[in-house]
Amino acid sequence: MALLVAQDGLDEAWDDAGGLSPPLPRVKRWPWQLPDLGQGGIAGCDSDKICQTDHRDHSGDSLGKMSVIAVYSTKGGVGKTTLSVDLAWRSAVLGGHKTLLWDLDVQGGAGYLLGEDEQPRLRAAGVFHREGRPDQLICETAYPNLSLLSADDSLRSLQLHLARIGQKRRLANLTNMLRGRYSRIILDCPPLLGEVSDQIIAAADVLIVPLPVSPLSFRALDTLRRELKREHGRHPPLLPVLSMYDGRRKAHRDLREGEMAPYPAIPWSSAIEQTAFRRAPIGTFAPHAEPAQALDRLWRVIEAKVQGARAA
Ligand SMILES: Nc1ncnc2c1ncn2[C@@H]1O[C@H](COP(=O)(O)OP(=O)(O)OP(=O)(O)O)[C@@H](O)[C@H]1O
Ligand SMILES: [Mg+2]
Repeated sequence: MALLVAQDGLDEAWDDAGGLSPPLPRVKRWPWQLPDLGQGGIAGCDSDKICQTDHRDHSGDSLGKMSVIAVYSTKGGVGKTTLSVDLAWRSAVLGGHKTLLWDLDVQGGAGYLLGEDEQPRLRAAGVFHREGRPDQLICETAYPNLSLLSADDSLRSLQLHLARIGQKRRLANLTNMLRGRYSRIILDCPPLLGEVSDQIIAAADVLIVPLPVSPLSFRALDTLRRELKREHGRHPPLLPVLSMYDGRRKAHRDLREGEMAPYPAIPWSSAIEQTAFRRAPIGTFAPHAEPAQALDRLWRVIEAKVQGARAA
């Protein structure tokens, strides 16, 4: 069944509860609201206007106008790191934006997926100390415009450390320090609620929330929304994203055609899974595959949001 949802569905997709940014531009149909191919796929892009628009920043990267994009979910193993790395690669390589991928998760998956070697020294948490300077730990990657601040075991104590120093905006202040150097910072976040997530929410311009295609995701989303309201009142625009959507499964199709219809979906795909084996973004080995196109559409929607917010 074609998911032709009224344009108002978009407002449901982006939760702008804080009202921090203007609504997205109105278009007839959103890129993810496409006929379902039934094979775990999202159909070929028939919202051609959006898909074929070249979003490269031809005017050159305007440093200083930085956006912090946090890929955050309370759920583990839902594709946060995979999506963070993909968005960072697209932003840097396709968008031409000076981009920093900041891995805040002790597991250190983001660097791994980019093919980077582990850092021998445990210094990632040191950035959060009083004299910590993120620029000293940032490494260039093999990809143009893409830098990495990788994680290591020292981040185990991050939650405690942040609680102890009691600076609610420490991460926000650190990302601000990098304003002149990067125009996009992508945060790959750990699946935690608490001090770390408070810092992430305070630092982020948009929150991308990958969710499994399951009724349990509504609970997770509700918990997050309640937490945001209670702790933050106003919060950055939030975009739930269905992760590992498998159109062959009736349960997935039913949810996507029902309550989860407003949200973009990333298909379950062996090509996306391969990014962990090849340790390279899908765009480097299967750029035209449908899953890569779905990720591309998602990146463009996020770009439209952050650019719209900055223009306002
Ligand atoms: N769309 C997808 N299709 C198939 N496999 C996927 C997809 N997205 C992620 N995966 C795989 O799912 C696993 C978990 O992904 P990932 O590590 O990105 O999740 P995460 O949310 O960052 O996990 P954690 O909470 O542990 O940090 C990985 O093996 C990854 O390759
Ligand atoms: Mg992860």
